[in-house]
Amino acid sequence: MGCLSTLLLLFTLASSSFSSAEISSQLGICYGQLGNNLPIPKNSVDLIKGLKAKRVKIYDTNPQILDALKGTNLQVSVMVPNELINNISTNQTLADQWVKNNIVPFYPHTMIRYLLVGNEILSSPPNTTWFNLVPTIRKIRFSVKKFGLGKIKVGTPLAIDMLESSFPPSNGTFRSDISEKVMKPLLHFLNRTKSFFFIDVYPYFAWASQPTVINLDYALLNSKNITVSDPGTGLVYTNLLDQMIDAVYYAMKRVGYPDVRLFIAETGWPNAGGVDQIGANIYNAATYNRNVIKKFTVKPPIGTPAKPGVVVPTLLFALYNENQKPGPGTERHFGLLYPNGTNIYGIDLSGKTPESEYKALPRARNNEPYTGKIWCVVSRSANASELGGAMSYACGQGNRTCDEIQPGGKCYNPNSLVSHANYAFSSYWSQFKSSGGTCYFNGLTIPTKKDPSYGSCKFPSVTL
Ligand SMILES: *[C@@H]1O[C@H](CO)[C@@H](O)[C@H](O)[C@H]1NC(C)=O
Ligand SMILES: *[C@@H]1O[C@H](CO)[C@@H](O)[C@H](O)[C@H]1NC(C)=O
Ligand SMILES: *[C@@H]1O[C@H](CO)[C@@H](O)[C@H](O)[C@H]1NC(C)=O
Ligand SMILES: *[C@@H]1O[C@H](CO)[C@@H](O)[C@H](O)[C@H]1NC(C)=O
Ligand SMILES: *[C@@H]1O[C@H](CO)[C@@H](O)[C@H](O)[C@H]1NC(C)=O
Ligand SMILES: *[C@@H]1O[C@H](CO)[C@@H](O)[C@H](O)[C@H]1NC(C)=O
Ligand SMILES: *[C@@H]1O[C@H](CO)[C@@H](O)[C@H](O)[C@H]1NC(C)=O
Ligand SMILES: *[C@@H]1O[C@H](CO)[C@@H](O)[C@H](O)[C@H]1NC(C)=O
Ligand SMILES: *[C@@H]1O[C@H](CO)[C@@H](O)[C@H](O)[C@H]1NC(C)=O
Repeated sequence: MGCLSTLLLLFTLASSSFSSAEISSQLGICYGQLGNNLPIPKNSVDLIKGLKAKRVKIYDTNPQILDALKGTNLQVSVMVPNELINNISTNQTLADQWVKNNIVPFYPHTMIRYLLVGNEILSSPPNTTWFNLVPTIRKIRFSVKKFGLGKIKVGTPLAIDMLESSFPPSNGTFRSDISEKVMKPLLHFLNRTKSFFFIDVYPYFAWASQPTVINLDYALLNSKNITVSDPGTGLVYTNLLDQMIDAVYYAMKRVGYPDVRLFIAETGWPNAGGVDQIGANIYNAATYNRNVIKKFTVKPPIGTPAKPGVVVPTLLFALYNENQKPGPGTERHFGLLYPNGTNIYGIDLSGKTPESEYKALPRARNNEPYTGKIWCVVSRSANASELGGAMSYACGQGNRTCDEIQPGGKCYNPNSLVSHANYAFSSYWSQFKSSGGTCYFNGLTIPTKKDPSYGSCKFPSVTL
């Protein structure tokens, strides 16, 4: 062995350690915990390793989870709760205290790498928290440095509704109510600290709102022949995800920050949903997530049309179906796993399992919009002692919502709680769906195509 081979060896070692310091393109997972039937943290961490995830995001700083992640190779993203933003924004002591209590005890044995301040803050109605966001981010970052936690990048995840225009991608523009006062200072901070712009991107929602305009395969990253050209740049798009990511790039460029790196803090596709929700099925969820993994793990990285070759670190949403998430049925069905820990479909976040090794997927049955009437009825798993309260709420929103289930009304008999509740929820939904009312009621109800009407008792319905 001469000096030359030693040198070569050193060189190889040096270059490989350099490349491992580069941003990994292997995907991560969002570990949401809004379920009352989920495995304990230790088992969840084993399941996350089994999915071959590289990163994991939690929506708080749950100490049991951070403990369970100790000594693993998973890069961890944690979150400052929305509720603390206002207080921290004017109080460095509070920021220090929060970092000291929630981060310091776990660092470095738990590989905390990303500290996100709040979750999709700019998607809720305007309030002072919007304008306190960046001051809080700065204070948290100051504390992070003070405690010597230099490897941790600080940022905040925003949803795509931060854009007021996203098509064509080169027209990407931040909403005017946040552009100057929030986005510019945020991007200035992210650029200065070499952090990431964390974005939640769901082609599913974009497609589901216009399923006859956008091609499903284009949204699933599954199209071989559909292209969309951007007349502003001449760039050619082959899938909706690239289009959405580039719209964010162009919005950043428009306000003077073209080079802040993007990080997809959430993306995914629901494996089930209500009867009124198109395209939420196992076939599409598996197809989308597998294609996203393929796209981001391919070497060398392909990036997007506007930023070819650039790695976009990505987290899939979510680890589990979470039965306590509010909103329409899809919200509770974004998981890769059932709450009992079994896979809903085969998936490998390292991208190393070839498609041919997965079992055949069930056929998609709801890719066409459902047209017809639907009703909102009590779900089989509903807790009867909670129905009364939900019913009073439903009946209390409108003036005549529940007239027919009063004594003498056409739907009074049978005088049973469930029958009355079915009427109340259907009547509520038919009046309020158009203004945002949902058929959820804390999980007590589900939408159905089956008309509960009988005899002269006609249940109000929603028409799709
Ligand atoms: C914020 O500070 C006020 C005043 O100290 C306190 O009453 C309130 O509980 C704090 N809010 C939170 C969410 O900690
Ligand atoms: C700042 O936070 C600290 C720690 O929670 C608290 O003791 C102090 O009263 C706060 N200061 C102000 C001005 O609210
Ligand atoms: C303001 O927005 C934040 C973030 O979404 C939310 O947590 C908080 O409840 C809102 N405050 C008010 C007064 O609406
Ligand atoms: C570009 O965005 C603006 C709003 O920012 C919108 O009015 C306009 O229609 C968009 N252009 C195209 C070609 O969609
Ligand atoms: C962003 O950061 C780069 C590198 O640190 C710097 O050269 C550039 O001026 C910054 N951009 C802005 C708009 O501040
Ligand atoms: C793309 O290919 C599919 C399947 O071969 C075909 O059905 C479709 O018509 C083609 N679309 C276009 C725009 O060429
Ligand atoms: C896990 O849950 C799913 C969905 O409820 C069910 O189909 C499956 O049989 C369960 N698996 C085990 C091992 O219990
Ligand atoms: C049903 O709801 C009641 C009231 O909220 C609660 O006390 C009870 O534990 C619940 N039962 C079940 C089986 O969840
Ligand atoms: C209830 O009736 C009153 C009086 O007719 C009307 O002003 C109000 O808008 C109604 N409320 C709803 C929710 O329909």
